[in-house]
Amino acid sequence: MNIIEIIDKKRLNKELTKEEIYFFINGIIKEEIKDYQTSSLLMAITINGMTDEEIVYLTNAMKESGEIVNLESLNKIIVDKHSTGGVGDKTTLIVGPIVAACDVCVAKMSGRGLGFTGGTIDKFESIENFNVNLSLDEFINQLKDINIAIVSQMANLVKADKILYALRDVTATVSSLPLIASSIMSKKLASNADKIVIDVKVGNGALMKTKEEALELARLMIKIGKANNKEIICILSNMNQPLGYAIGNSLEVEEAISILSGNKQPNDLYELVLELSTNMVSLGKNISKEKAREEVIFVLENGLALEKFKQLIKYQGGDINNLQNECKIFSIKSLKQGYIKSIDTQKLGELTRQIGAGRYFKEDKIDYGVGIVLSKKIGDFVSKDEEIMKVYLKNKDIKIMDLLSCFEFSEKEVIKEKLIIDIITDVK
Ligand code: URA
Repeated sequence: MNIIEIIDKKRLNKELTKEEIYFFINGIIKEEIKDYQTSSLLMAITINGMTDEEIVYLTNAMKESGEIVNLESLNKIIVDKHSTGGVGDKTTLIVGPIVAACDVCVAKMSGRGLGFTGGTIDKFESIENFNVNLSLDEFINQLKDINIAIVSQMANLVKADKILYALRDVTATVSSLPLIASSIMSKKLASNADKIVIDVKVGNGALMKTKEEALELARLMIKIGKANNKEIICILSNMNQPLGYAIGNSLEVEEAISILSGNKQPNDLYELVLELSTNMVSLGKNISKEKAREEVIFVLENGLALEKFKQLIKYQGGDINNLQNECKIFSIKSLKQGYIKSIDTQKLGELTRQIGAGRYFKEDKIDYGVGIVLSKKIGDFVSKDEEIMKVYLKNKDIKIMDLLSCFEFSEKEVIKEKLIIDIITDVK
């Protein structure tokens, strides 16, 4: 077997065998296959796709390319949650404590910001001294004690994804559904929760721009889960506008705390949090969604979820009274009047990165307090000179017209789009 034959086979749109796929993944780990050969195969996969069987083999080979977390000593059902990435998505900060307060164990490995989307780990790090790098033993002990731990992806997990992702980023092969599904699922399978709820974002602020693409990604991820005896639920949610009002690390932590304190606004954020938590509790306790939803609302309304959040922060060394958020605040007024028809969510995410909330290079330092807080969202009426958002700045500047150009207006009333687009629990 050799890599040139494998690349040629995929170029001719033929199905690769399990042995060929494992040969490829083992070859990149041992550095026997060169980056240019890997890139070539990635492009052939992007153009010609893969069968479901090939995708399952690829995912499993990637999963086995590093350590696999063993959580058996916990003797509990472990539930995980994943988002395919969006703008203003702070749901993990809220959903994790809610589900743990409902007595379901949440073992979560999260990422940092990627491109124009924010990352859960950066948001937690806006809380002074919060430690995202627990050892495996510390991770397991914390789960035993308080049912929840949120850490950065451990370095020795899924080594193949680190190599493939870096090459995909620079070879225009990020958008391939087989490569996205195997990248996400290999990491989920290596962190080894029993049941996983995946928030598949759809819209102009997400990787998946259409419902069709999102449905196909959901189908693939559930199929991979089934082949590995993991129960997966995919919730397709709207990302044609930022989730909630806040975009930017500590601003999002503040919004998360507000929901955990019992507030039901912003209502899109509240609705998605309820849906994700309900599905996680229902899976974790094997109870109906109705019963799970009652438990979720109970822990939110009685302060138990907020208490769990505070406990999580304290256990991981953070000081919740010390959010890194010193900034200058500017009120941005609309130059037009009308109903907001659309928001260029990706551009708003990009602009938030540009003012320092995200990185361009791995070593860039984040300004945790900077960001945007919307005052208006799609369907809202805005008068000329009325505030449409606030922008929080520290070291970098921004052009007001760049911010305002993200909004399109209509003279007629605009019907608000549905937030939950679909829920997929099983596939053939
Ligand atoms: N998230 C991942 O982890 N991998 C992808 O390929 C895309 C999103």
